[in-house]
Amino acid sequence: MMIQIENVTKMFDDFVAVNNVSLNIAKGDFIGLLGPNGAGKTTIIKMLTGLLKPTCGSIYINGEKMSRDNKKAKEILGIVPQYTNLDKELTAYENLVFAAKLFRVGDYKNKTMELLKFMELENYKDRKAMNLSGGMARRLMIAKALINDPEIIFLDEPTVGIDLNGRRKIWDILKTMKTMGKTILLTTHYIEEADYLCNKVCLIDKGKIIDNDTPDNLKKELGIYTMEYFDEEMKTKYKFFKNKEEAIKYSNKIMSLNYTLRETTLEDVFYNFTNRKVI
Ligand SMILES: Nc1ncnc2c1ncn2[C@@H]1O[C@H](COP(=O)(O)OP(=O)(O)OP(=O)(O)O)[C@@H](O)[C@H]1O
Ligand SMILES: [Mg+2]
Repeated sequence: MMIQIENVTKMFDDFVAVNNVSLNIAKGDFIGLLGPNGAGKTTIIKMLTGLLKPTCGSIYINGEKMSRDNKKAKEILGIVPQYTNLDKELTAYENLVFAAKLFRVGDYKNKTMELLKFMELENYKDRKAMNLSGGMARRLMIAKALINDPEIIFLDEPTVGIDLNGRRKIWDILKTMKTMGKTILLTTHYIEEADYLCNKVCLIDKGKIIDNDTPDNLKKELGIYTMEYFDEEMKTKYKFFKNKEEAIKYSNKIMSLNYTLRETTLEDVFYNFTNRKVI
């Protein structure tokens, strides 16, 4: 396993931000941590990268126990944090060269140009980071995370606040990284993003993993067809079916009501879980 999270809990005073989380991530996995604001996603990433120490439990990166000063565990990680880590006064090119020198990358000029090209930033290489658009800045952060050719890449909300074109560009970059055999962990609250990119999805709510599987299996578990209809009180109800026949049978029962039948999405899965939890 590339990443092992074993019974990890993180408390801030008496508040439990991450609650007994266990998760194994294999080499080449593209896993999405999916959850609402405050679910504990960033806290998990900070523990995975050694920035925060778990209150209890352990984390292993490629067999190495993660800690603030375990260089061996840290040198195979690339991190795209939730908030910017660029030097705003430096140009795109200078930001990367600076990072390359920190990591003692031998052929840093070539590496920098190669990454600028990969991120479609070569035309902006002399622009100061503070003058890049949100999408460009995010791509520069991804380039920075790749400067030391890491095996594992953590991305905390890489597309938040970026328009659809910019998001698609980032999705293409991430898909290419997957084909290069990288192990990728991404957090997002864009459910369709996780559905599109990830081969595994981990649903988190209030610091707990509520399910962890492939997007297809999560949908199958619930039923691949979703019926939406209004009940007598004009509230939207959702009902899930394994196949169309069952759905049609059910629709006969509620014949007088308006309904739509569609394919189940990961969003349905998430709502279903969190509602169940609240009740
Ligand atoms: N240093 C801290 N001290 C106290 N509480 C914290 C600290 N860091 C995080 N928390 C709390 O832990 C919980 C989880 O926070 P976290 O940032 O991990 O959530 P998240 O899933 O990344 O949310 P978002 O989608 O908004 O980024 C929140 O309630 C947050 O307020
Ligand atoms: Mg966060």
